Amino acid sequence: MRLFGTMAANEENHLSIGGVDTIALAKKHGTPLYVMDQGLIEENIETFLHRFQSEKFVTNIVYASKAFLNLAFCRLIVEKGLSMDTLSDGDLYIAKRAGFPMERIVMHGNSKSISELTMALDLGVGVIVVDNHDEFEKLDRLTRARKQMTRILVRVNPGIEAHTHEYIQTSTYSSKFGESIFDPNIFNWFTEMDAAPYLQVEGIHCHIGSQIFESSSFLQAVRVMTEFVAKVESETGVRLTTLNLGGGFGVYYTEGDDPIALGNMLDAMIATLEEEIADRKLGINRVMIEPGRSIVCNAGTTLYTVEARKTTYSGKRYVLVDGGMTDNPRPALYQAVYEGVIANRMNDAPTEEVCVAGKCCESGDVLIQSTMLQAAQVGDVLAIASTGAYTYSMSSNYNSVRRAAVVMVKDGQDRLVTKRESFEDLIRNDLDLEA
Ligand SMILES: Cc1ncc(COP(=O)(O)O)c(C=O)c1O
Repeated sequence: MRLFGTMAANEENHLSIGGVDTIALAKKHGTPLYVMDQGLIEENIETFLHRFQSEKFVTNIVYASKAFLNLAFCRLIVEKGLSMDTLSDGDLYIAKRAGFPMERIVMHGNSKSISELTMALDLGVGVIVVDNHDEFEKLDRLTRARKQMTRILVRVNPGIEAHTHEYIQTSTYSSKFGESIFDPNIFNWFTEMDAAPYLQVEGIHCHIGSQIFESSSFLQAVRVMTEFVAKVESETGVRLTTLNLGGGFGVYYTEGDDPIALGNMLDAMIATLEEEIADRKLGINRVMIEPGRSIVCNAGTTLYTVEARKTTYSGKRYVLVDGGMTDNPRPALYQAVYEGVIANRMNDAPTEEVCVAGKCCESGDVLIQSTMLQAAQVGDVLAIASTGAYTYSMSSNYNSVRRAAVVMVKDGQDRLVTKRESFEDLIRNDLDLEA
């Protein structure tokens, strides 16, 4: 298993993260347990802040909260000066509770309700990304009624097929996100939005997909989007000032993943942006990007207890753990792959090919389809790496499994930032028919 950030084998032959022994963490907080390496998160944030900079335009790093969000993390994002992408009223609520500056919120969503839009207006979020014409009509009505000036970006679909899993491609011709730049009505729509008295059309947004490795997809997005900004201006006279290019920077999960170094990717994007904006004489003075996975993924490790081993009649060997699709639905959802290690036997060589499966009542509840592991025993702690993104945020209570706890580790200290759910949490919204 590749080790990231502060991951290391300590003298006791245990995996340590942030200078903290993971076996001690498993004892203290129980398993499954999400362990977040705060130092690596901070390092990733610094890379974005320092490498995505230009003297020609303002840059904003907008953390995509869908990757991982809780109050403590939200506070860390505030402290680091990032903006934040939210998608629902629930995200807004958490941001508000964490004291997140509302002017730094970018409100997303392809199916926003009137109540969510109203909440965004009540809170005074920085900018709303309008996904479709129906949403524009809702927002136009709301802002007229409230006489509230509101900044918007328009989510467009530039039709770029990023090379990634089809479930996380978001910019193909038939994607549900945004309005196509090839739609014959698109320019009329800009004219219509520009005429809305309380909507300030600042720019456009795209997000071409997730887990993208080649810089060519991002550079193509820069070219297509800047060309479209120029077209909007020439067709409608609307001068756009903000370009939001979304997230999607790929990370390493398993052997064979070869993402280009983040800093180099960002440098290439800045150079192409500066060139395209100057050549096309655009009014773009602000460029946003929305990284999620690339900030948190490699910083997260999930610890499990091995509860059983099994060899089937066909000869398939299973290592069965106390979590699974409830804490990490990604393998079941889109065949995501991971690497793992027995965290209390770090120096033992991997000798067995096994399938790591979870505890849920689904054959598809598999965390790693096939991997070489050290000989595991019941009671061992299995660590799965690179689980910081889209795991806790996608977790569920299937089979009445309680959601796992989250700890942040740094400089030899661990800090519990989300408690494991209690049994009471499982029924807190149930109404007793007898009562
Ligand atoms: C609009 C938008 N921005 C940003 C992201 C973050 O993508 P990633 O986590 O791959 O960086 C997503 C992910 O789905 C998204 O939909």
